[in-house]
Amino acid sequence: MDSMLIRGGFPLIGEIIVSGSKNAALPIMAASLLTNQVLELSNIPKLSDINTMQSLLKHHGASISSNEQDDESLVLKLQSNSISDLTAPYEIVRKMRASIWVLGPLLARFGEAKVSLPGGCAIGARQVDLHIAVMKAMGAKIEIKDGYIYASSNGRLKGCSFAFAKSSVGATINAILAAVLADGKTDLSNCAREPEIVDLCHCLNKMGAEISGIGDKDIQIFGKTTLSGASYRILPDRIEAGTYMIAAAATRGDVKLRGIKYDIVENLASKMIEAGIEVKPYKDYIHIKHSGPIKPVDISTQPYPGFSTDLQAQFMCLMSLADGSSVVSENIFENRFMHVPELCRMGANITINGNKATVKGVGGLTAAEVMASDLRASVSLIISGLCAEGETKVQRIYHLDRGYQTLEKKLSNCGADVSRIVKDTI
Ligand code: EPZ
Repeated sequence: MDSMLIRGGFPLIGEIIVSGSKNAALPIMAASLLTNQVLELSNIPKLSDINTMQSLLKHHGASISSNEQDDESLVLKLQSNSISDLTAPYEIVRKMRASIWVLGPLLARFGEAKVSLPGGCAIGARQVDLHIAVMKAMGAKIEIKDGYIYASSNGRLKGCSFAFAKSSVGATINAILAAVLADGKTDLSNCAREPEIVDLCHCLNKMGAEISGIGDKDIQIFGKTTLSGASYRILPDRIEAGTYMIAAAATRGDVKLRGIKYDIVENLASKMIEAGIEVKPYKDYIHIKHSGPIKPVDISTQPYPGFSTDLQAQFMCLMSLADGSSVVSENIFENRFMHVPELCRMGANITINGNKATVKGVGGLTAAEVMASDLRASVSLIISGLCAEGETKVQRIYHLDRGYQTLEKKLSNCGADVSRIVKDTI
């Protein structure tokens, strides 16, 4: 497995261009199953999760062409005009939970789907009960056996009224993907409002869907009998952007971040400003600059527009360098502190009590060999390595390749000393 070697202690100085959003691209790729026409998607990031979704769609029978652009993003042309297999097998779903998003489209268009249960993962049990409940509310018959969800519907799915018991990005997405082809109107309430869901809705409306209330907790969908093809550009990745904003601040750097609008990272920016960091929006970029002390700031993860759980690990690294104590509360996933023992191996002083971590700022972090456990935990260790004097080795970085396009290149362009050890013997 690959490792990353970081010689830390240098500020990040330069420009970084934000890639397309992984978490918007994945459900939009799944939306290609809703039509027999071509869906052309641009600004797709080059990531292993994108490859996994392509494998899954091809397994169902979709044809996909992929063209790399000068900026290293991909343009994908996806066509689902000869779907032959309605099963999402365990071998693929276990690699990536986002595979569950084929459930809604397959069921809505073909009246049947068999999707492996994703199971738990490093950050929590991650149930799929809400995905199933909303499909049932649309008239689907669902049976769980042998580790699979067997879903079928007698004719078209039926529009319904459904209130999510809790905010779920994944279940909101699956519900929308199914309701666009259902018979009649669907009223969804207490929906998740993440920008990636908004992006999906805009793409679906371009494909001929009729979705209103986009970006609100209450969404209305008038089902159509068919959808058409479309061309759509995926929105920039706010989590990648936020990660580099934190890395710039933690290394006492000076970075211009291009390709991202300030409003979708504003919740992070406001916490960084509270911590004494300079974060300024300009027409074409966001400028992040820091040289002085870092003030301790508490954060509490919440569904959008609250502070994202996907930036919690990175922010904790920043708070480890603060002048004082802060409290990080994780309210979305029950096991998302896997990075804490590794950060402590690098000299951080963090104690966990339930879903709260008390972070006592330390003068500086120290280099060490550490192990990545999930995507965002991995990148928090990379940021820590960039801040620590000496040589840090982060093992198992395949997690990073799921969510950060050309990470080494983007960091090296800003003066970081990072290199990948391919097939490291550990
Ligand atoms: C999405 O996961 C993202 N994944 C996650 O990003 C992100 O952390 C998460 O949303 C929250 O923002 C993708 O977009 C591919 P949820 P998802 O359903 O959809 C519970 C990353 O690092 N729940 O909003 O799986 C669940 O257990 C990843 O890029 C149920 O109880 O998240 C969790 O506690 C990691 N029943 C909470 O809801 C259900 O049926 C929120 O999960 C579904 C979810």
